[in-house]
Amino acid sequence: MNLLITNARPYGEGELVDVVVRDGVVTEIGAGLAGARDESVEVLDADGAVLLPGFVDLHTHLREPGGEESETIASGSAAAALGGFTAVFAMPNTDPVADSEVVVEHVRRRGAEVGLVDVHPVGAVTVGLAGEQMAELGTMARSRAEVRMFSDDGKCVNDPVIMRRALEYASALNVVIAQHAEDHRLTVGAQAHEGVVASRLGLAGWPATAEETIVARDCALAREAKAALHVCHVSSARTIDVLRAAKAAGVRVSAEVTPHHLLLTDAALTSYDPVNKVNPPLRTAADTRAMREALAEGVIDVVATDHAPHAAQYKDTEWAAARPGMLGLQTALSIVVHTMVEPGLLDWRGVARVLSERPAEIGGLPDHGRPIAVGEPATFALVDPDGVWTVRGGSLASKAANTPFEGMRLPATVTATILRGRITARDGKVAA
Ligand code: DOR
Ligand code: ZN
Repeated sequence: MNLLITNARPYGEGELVDVVVRDGVVTEIGAGLAGARDESVEVLDADGAVLLPGFVDLHTHLREPGGEESETIASGSAAAALGGFTAVFAMPNTDPVADSEVVVEHVRRRGAEVGLVDVHPVGAVTVGLAGEQMAELGTMARSRAEVRMFSDDGKCVNDPVIMRRALEYASALNVVIAQHAEDHRLTVGAQAHEGVVASRLGLAGWPATAEETIVARDCALAREAKAALHVCHVSSARTIDVLRAAKAAGVRVSAEVTPHHLLLTDAALTSYDPVNKVNPPLRTAADTRAMREALAEGVIDVVATDHAPHAAQYKDTEWAAARPGMLGLQTALSIVVHTMVEPGLLDWRGVARVLSERPAEIGGLPDHGRPIAVGEPATFALVDPDGVWTVRGGSLASKAANTPFEGMRLPATVTATILRGRITARDGKVAA
């Protein structure tokens, strides 16, 4: 199957070009290649859109198996493709937990059947996410699912003995441990960022130090084990100082920030709308500012969505009972453009770096986040930088509708997504 993309602007730079794709690989890039058109060629007119490598999400909750009322691998894959993603890492806090070869292989196979995005299962670090006994990381790493990332996300690997051993295994297996950094001893009953807003609303506080101390501890453990540590959803400015020092010391540590922690603050909580409940919690304006600067600087490596769909019965309830989490896949690019590109903190090369190249490197995906060049896989997102849209949770592809951006008018639209030469989404619709 062959594809001709016309009038595209790679990385938003230079003249419009045409891109010829054969068997999923770019064979020619240049102006005026439309002559390459023949009967067998599918033509995609980019109409001046920015051509980027397809996005890679290191942190997605697809909820299958066990949480199909909130999301399935099919609905989550559709949301991913519509958001410009070509690969996602599916977190293991499912039911059953993805702590065995059987479950990770199921997730991989179902993702491949759906075929809209490469679904890479994340394996659990501990059996049942219980934090007590290490799961069989080696078995999952060597399975057909080729698990490259392990995490107990939703929970922290709180026990330093287990975290230390997991990092030693990770070093030997050449995989990465992704830590949800939250010292649970410091967050018992926590409902919101510990600060003036939580005090005023009478909500128990989640102190930023619960994140900072675990990241500091884990950087020390990763350094000793010479292991790759990835810090999930950084939310506190103080954590950035820890990361900067660890990186300067040569620790193999990477970090992500979510779109919501780039934009939203605990000021949103005054409505008591549980759509704003998330873990780690929304923090202060000083924290969001620090997140943006750290992302521009590279101390935070990537944007990852923490796409966390929850069906209405888990969200439309009083604050304390509501589950934490927010949709992210279809709004991620627009929030990055709004918070990073519009203020001049990132250009399109930078967007490619934080949404595609670095996540592909961290997750160990050799055929994603590649340069847009001849001989490389045709795995792309096409973005209309002048597009504007209004977020409506009910119109998103996810089964759940819990977006904190409801009603917001956001810049930039994903006009097409292409996975190895196959169009997976186009003009807001997924491929049949
Ligand atoms: O808000 C969150 N939701 N944070 C997590 O760590 C887990 C996630 C979920 O699974 O819903
Ligand atoms: Zn988490």
